[in-house]
Amino acid sequence: MADHPRPRRSFLGLLAGAIGVVVGAAASIPGLGFLAHPLRTKTVSGGEEPVRVAAPDDVRPGRPLRVNVYGQRRDGWTRIDRMKLGAAWLMRTPEGRVRAFSTVCPHLGCGIDWDEKSEKFHCPCHNSGFGLDGRCLYGPSPRGLDELEVATTATEIRVRYQRFKVAVKEKEPIG
Ligand code: FES
Repeated sequence: MADHPRPRRSFLGLLAGAIGVVVGAAASIPGLGFLAHPLRTKTVSGGEEPVRVAAPDDVRPGRPLRVNVYGQRRDGWTRIDRMKLGAAWLMRTPEGRVRAFSTVCPHLGCGIDWDEKSEKFHCPCHNSGFGLDGRCLYGPSPRGLDELEVATTATEIRVRYQRFKVAVKEKEPIG
């Protein structure tokens, strides 16, 4: 009876192909991990801890002060030490305590201004107004200004910057 080498050869060919696929897949895993690294890594920091935004003497009673809050951005390729996370309104209460409010309007996210004449915080987008204590006084905003965590020492005012969901009644942090 004659030999049938063909099935044996095709089995070896299949085996070699399968080994090639396994080795190729295994070799590509570190490369994929490298490419996906920034996606899996937290690249912006500064929102976890309060960061310095002003000196205590900078904030006077009845005169809100707008400050920027900076954090750090770092990934596999870049490092930015002063990346703007957002901004805050600082104000001193009649009792001398410093409070901070986000400048993001809780209605739909526009920027909040301080109106010197009426002595109110004001959002020009849909005309919402807020008192010095952050309470919503008029307009469509579903809640008052979002208060941020403040830490004060003899030499500095520190604010922990956070963003909150807009268009909802309760203050809900994002992220
Ligand atoms: Fe401020 Fe609409 S975004 S009132």
